[in-house]
Amino acid sequence: MIKKFYPSSLYNFLRFIQSNPVNKRILDCGAGGPDPKLAFFYENGFESYGIDISEDQIKEAEDYCINHDIKLNIVKGDMRNIPFESRFFGYIYSYLSMVHLSKNETAQAINEIYRVLMEGGLCYLNFLSKDDTNFDEKEESNPGESIHKHGNEEFILRF
Ligand SMILES: C[S@@+](CC[C@H](N)C(=O)[O-])C[C@H]1O[C@@H](n2cnc3c(N)ncnc32)[C@H](O)[C@@H]1O
Repeated sequence: MIKKFYPSSLYNFLRFIQSNPVNKRILDCGAGGPDPKLAFFYENGFESYGIDISEDQIKEAEDYCINHDIKLNIVKGDMRNIPFESRFFGYIYSYLSMVHLSKNETAQAINEIYRVLMEGGLCYLNFLSKDDTNFDEKEESNPGESIHKHGNEEFILRF
């Protein structure tokens, strides 16, 4: 069997949430794409839910689920207006997805995450910095922005 490794920060988040059990429900904001990180939490016994704004990215995640025979419940949704009731999730994270939002949009998304997170729940978000070793300054299109292409879609990365 081939062991798959996920980004190290997700192992840290898993450790925190396992030592702070509130419920088993976890939401990934920006969950789509060919390598859905939710699979990691699913494999560790969590009831997983995801939202993504892009139908193409959701389709890629669905293909992954079919190929790996898992169920991740990824639906179309915008993290600035999360389509779930208040206090529904014990845990919420967003991995390399809030990097597409402006500062105002980030504030909207954080308010929404706070709304759907239950009391005592935990949240993990990551952002992009110019100090990131993978960051290529030559690709900067506007100050603090660069264009990222995936398939037919273009995303703005903000840092
Ligand atoms: C760089 S991909 C990362 C995907 C996944 N988290 C991963 O690590 O493989 C960023 C994802 O964020 C999604 N996204 C961008 N803006 C969003 C928004 N406002 N709400 C939900 N998803 C969003 C994109 O469609 C894309 O699937």
